[in-house]
Amino acid sequence: MNQPQGKIVALLALTGALFTASVHAGVFPDFGYAPPKSEYSGPPFQLSQDYPKAPPGASSMPAFFQHLPKTFSNDFETWRPYMEEVKKYCLEGNTEIGWKVQKNKIRRWYHMPWQHYGPNGREGISGLTKEAPIQPGQLASTQTDSGQTYAVGIYNDIGAYTIGQVWKDPDNPDPSYTSKPKSFPNGTVVCKALFADIDVKTVPFLANPLLWKAYTTETFTSTDRSVTQVALIQMDIAVRDTRVSDTGWLFGTFQYNGAVTGKANWNNLVPVGIMWGNDPKETGNDFTNPKPVETKINPALKQTAINANTQELPPTHLGWNGRLNGPVDNPQASCLSCHMTAEYQQLALMNPTFQANPPPVGGDEWMKWFQNIPAGQPFSPGTQSTDYSLQLSGALANFYDWKCNHSGVYADGVNACTKLQTLKLIKASNAPEDEVHKVQRSPELEELE
Ligand code: HEC
Repeated sequence: MNQPQGKIVALLALTGALFTASVHAGVFPDFGYAPPKSEYSGPPFQLSQDYPKAPPGASSMPAFFQHLPKTFSNDFETWRPYMEEVKKYCLEGNTEIGWKVQKNKIRRWYHMPWQHYGPNGREGISGLTKEAPIQPGQLASTQTDSGQTYAVGIYNDIGAYTIGQVWKDPDNPDPSYTSKPKSFPNGTVVCKALFADIDVKTVPFLANPLLWKAYTTETFTSTDRSVTQVALIQMDIAVRDTRVSDTGWLFGTFQYNGAVTGKANWNNLVPVGIMWGNDPKETGNDFTNPKPVETKINPALKQTAINANTQELPPTHLGWNGRLNGPVDNPQASCLSCHMTAEYQQLALMNPTFQANPPPVGGDEWMKWFQNIPAGQPFSPGTQSTDYSLQLSGALANFYDWKCNHSGVYADGVNACTKLQTLKLIKASNAPEDEVHKVQRSPELEELE
């Protein structure tokens, strides 16, 4: 080789520069399940992963922050204008582009990386991940078959800045950015659209369905996929607001009601309610309602506000003892109850019923899942909080499973993470391996390997 030395150095420098630039564009896989060309020829899903490199300034603060009610009442009507504004914030500029959110002309949105991995990973048409089974009767008394839920979540620029920090080194993610003394910053907004794979004719509120194409498994327990259409059923929101005292978060949800406009339309999403705490002292069970023929509103709850307009909101089951949950959610849980367990490593179960011998309903052990945990504080000692983001704890678990367990085992019996001392996180706690949980919305998913 008689290349002059200087040229090689220049070339190396250039490659380095290109690599650094690409860290923020296309470094993470877009999806895990590509539909065959014979079944789908449209554009593939693209992960919005050009995370902001600097904290977005004050001009990014969502305008709806000004309209947080002065007092937090369990009368939903005091929340209705706020919830309508959050809904608009999520949908504006997204509905007309089919949620290709990096193309939104009003404000940019971003996806969580590392959700492509594993049996319920992102599919390649709409970016949906497999979430949970739908039990017979869960949506309506006429719904006798079971079904399954798929979903996609998006973060605004304030939240996405933190995602970019956690994943700045894509080979060594760092959840200290979401754990005490840090957390997702004030102004973070997450919206999540959920879709049902169900016979819509058996669910009255899914009349005039809004359908998305997706590459889904044939049944919840199957791994065979085909291109299908799934119906919009729910939209969740999570808002990080430092004015919310007990948890620092507001979680709310909307349910589809096709009768509202009489056609397939995002405006058919009607509010179910909003919650800002778990009412830790309310231990009763009278309002738990897994197979709804009416919506049972529990007036004893002071940190959940449910829409009482039965003309607008179809009968829905809510969560444990009337705390907030949506139609595809677990009736023994609540939004904040599941989400406050988000941590890395995930030592906590998301719900007390996700184990062989659940503790007595309403007892002290059960109520651990219905406390109020401040933003950034982990549920289990010795772990780091992913600050109410189960997508982030799931993504980290996926990453480390791939990195540690699927890159092979050395002759001395240890895996790549044990060899690589720089990857300290996998040993973030001293927990035995069998106490680490997958971050999945329902325990049934653990069996799908
Ligand atoms: C049984 C536990 C459980 C319940 C109950 C639950 N979620 Fe989640 N949620 C999850 C899991 C697991 C994920 C991550 C998987 C995904 O989004 O693909 C998630 C993701 C989300 C996300 C995306 C960002 C994030 O935090 O990961 C939002 C927003 C969200 N849920 C809001 C809600 C709202 C609002 C409710 C109540 C109406 C709710 N969730 C109820 C388990 C739950």
